[in-house]
Amino acid sequence: MKTPTDAAAERLIHLRAAGVSLVLDLRGSGLPTVLHWGADLGDLSQEELSQLAQAVTMPSMPGFDDVVPRVALLPEHGTGWPGQPGLTGHRQGADWSPLFAIDSAETDGLSVRIRAADNTARLGLVLEAGLTPSGLVRMRAAVRNDDTVRPYTLDGLMLALPVPDAATELLDLTGRWCRERAPQRHPFNAGTWLRETRSGRTGPDAALVLTAGTPGFGFGHGEVWGLHIAWSGNHRVLAERLPTGRPVVAAGELLLPGEAVLGPGEQYTGPWLYGSHSGQGLDGLSARFHDHLRARPGHPHRPRPVVLNTWEAVYFDHDLDKLTHLADLGAEVGVERFVLDDGWFRHRRDDRAGLGDWYVDETVWPNGLHPLIDHVRALGMEFGLWVEPEMINPDSDLARAHPEWILATGGRTPADRRSQQVLDLTHPEAYAYILGRLDALLAEYDIAYLKWDHNRELVDAGHSPDGEPAVHRQTLAVYALLDELRARHPGLEIESCASGGGRVDLAILERTDRVWASDCNDALERQSINRWTGLILPPELVGSHIGAARSHTTSRTHDLAFRAGTALFGHLGIEWDLTRASESERAELTRWVSLHKQLRGLLHTGRVVRVDHPDPALWAHGVVSHDLTEAVFALTAVATPVAAHPGTLRLRGLDPDATYHLRPLSLADRAPGMERGTPAWCTKSGISLPGSVLERVGIQIPTLHPEQLILLHLTSCPSTP
Ligand code: DGJ
Repeated sequence: MKTPTDAAAERLIHLRAAGVSLVLDLRGSGLPTVLHWGADLGDLSQEELSQLAQAVTMPSMPGFDDVVPRVALLPEHGTGWPGQPGLTGHRQGADWSPLFAIDSAETDGLSVRIRAADNTARLGLVLEAGLTPSGLVRMRAAVRNDDTVRPYTLDGLMLALPVPDAATELLDLTGRWCRERAPQRHPFNAGTWLRETRSGRTGPDAALVLTAGTPGFGFGHGEVWGLHIAWSGNHRVLAERLPTGRPVVAAGELLLPGEAVLGPGEQYTGPWLYGSHSGQGLDGLSARFHDHLRARPGHPHRPRPVVLNTWEAVYFDHDLDKLTHLADLGAEVGVERFVLDDGWFRHRRDDRAGLGDWYVDETVWPNGLHPLIDHVRALGMEFGLWVEPEMINPDSDLARAHPEWILATGGRTPADRRSQQVLDLTHPEAYAYILGRLDALLAEYDIAYLKWDHNRELVDAGHSPDGEPAVHRQTLAVYALLDELRARHPGLEIESCASGGGRVDLAILERTDRVWASDCNDALERQSINRWTGLILPPELVGSHIGAARSHTTSRTHDLAFRAGTALFGHLGIEWDLTRASESERAELTRWVSLHKQLRGLLHTGRVVRVDHPDPALWAHGVVSHDLTEAVFALTAVATPVAAHPGTLRLRGLDPDATYHLRPLSLADRAPGMERGTPAWCTKSGISLPGSVLERVGIQIPTLHPEQLILLHLTSCPSTP
């Protein structure tokens, strides 16, 4: 452990982890700048770091004389930085352009903590930046009002990381309900590319990771630098390239007007930001997030139980006989966790009433949930329950008793969405009521898992009686509620759901165990949604269900092999009225569930590989075990390949020196469309080839029709002495 004096004396701080270097320049009195964020530079002496600083420090510009724009972690207008400032705010028009000077800097070898102040603006700042063991940059800032009398109106607090000029392309995600996390790419031109979320939750359209990269970067090639904000409320993420100064990626919470007015001595702490660098394309970027999440103390390490969720099977039509029959059939096919979705509580006969009345509906469940839960437990399955604690229907006993617990402003109630409003969890009594109800349910019933939903955006979200903006405090209240419940009920697992995949970020994942990636169980859509959710989440955290043959959300029809082969890699579930499935469908489903159980040890711990194929109709992805001895790949056509012979599939991520036995896995009664156009390797006995050949040459792709999927299993052959 180094002392604070060490850090102050060195002034050039080199942090290294998992192949990444972050070099911070603390020379001078200003805030630290980043000299390098990227590939590991090896062990450098202070003298070499000083030479590095000389190598990359920008000279003053002709016509600007003394001004050298500094890209500090928190960029300051006052330094001459012409881009987006890190801190925006004022004291009734004064103190709007602070310039901080460092008071102290401490480092423990993996991170630095810097205290700085602007004594004129009377603001204090704490900056924390470091590398996680998986090589992610992790940083945040806090600002304090040091005035003893006057408040400070904070409008925004963003941190920035510079990226090299060579990063000329941007990638980020967008989307909507049932089409979450759709990628978009464009040149990183001069100007600002700004992504904002004002919906009070992470959003199905969140940028997720704003990534800058070298031209043409893909999953397996190119150098990339991506930034993620761990925050489930309003936020902004931007990439900025100016004619003067280095390109940057930056992010911070989006504060609503007057949301952060700091009284004397008060402090605002921003969310953690995570930067991921990779010299091997997006797979490397994702691997750092996956490793980070897998290293969480609470990461689920026991096998992910196969789920049966009742939503698309029965919707609001709760009937004990039907549900116990469903549970019986679920147990028969191998389900391990039965989840009762929306519709179990008072007044909830459809989606127009009842939210807030968290008591089991006595008219539907005269004996409570006990008969169902006892039945499920007797079948050897866990029980899970759907809740939506942050919401309230105006048509509920709760809203009638406490209309003041609805988030609202401007003397009006926000327009209903899905007939519901947002419950003000910043109201201490509302918070206590919800905590009490959830706690009571968890105490009374044997519930292993909560599916925690959030089905409307926060619009006009103000706190009564004055209606001041409440998204920031509401977000913190939700975190506190989740933390409190988990502390009271150790072992309880929670899923983050928000109209499908509307709340996926690293802050919600500090307190949840999986995400519901989308309400769309259509396997074709899920190929894309799961692939891009995997940008930060490892497969075991991505809820992925096998739906009915005809998708409820798109009306497309797919055979079971495509549906199951798509869901197989994630945290597997079934969302299908099995009482309507044929015997042969249930028999095939049983084989898929059993295959998943055989493979989940690998799928949920290994390294994710997504293959770049020149034909956009052909997608392949896989998981390779960490010791490189086993792998599973899925190859699928998401559209009609243009070429009759679509070329070869090069399998990355294997041990080049090991010989692998490769064979297709087929569980369908009949492999559809595989009778013709089947390459010679594609037989039950398979082929054996070195990893280097499989990567450099590949295997001929069979003639696939759209929405057909084949699975490949690879095991390394024991080497002969
Ligand atoms: C939205 C969720 O995403 C669905 O899976 C389901 O739980 C419904 N809400 C229930 O209202």
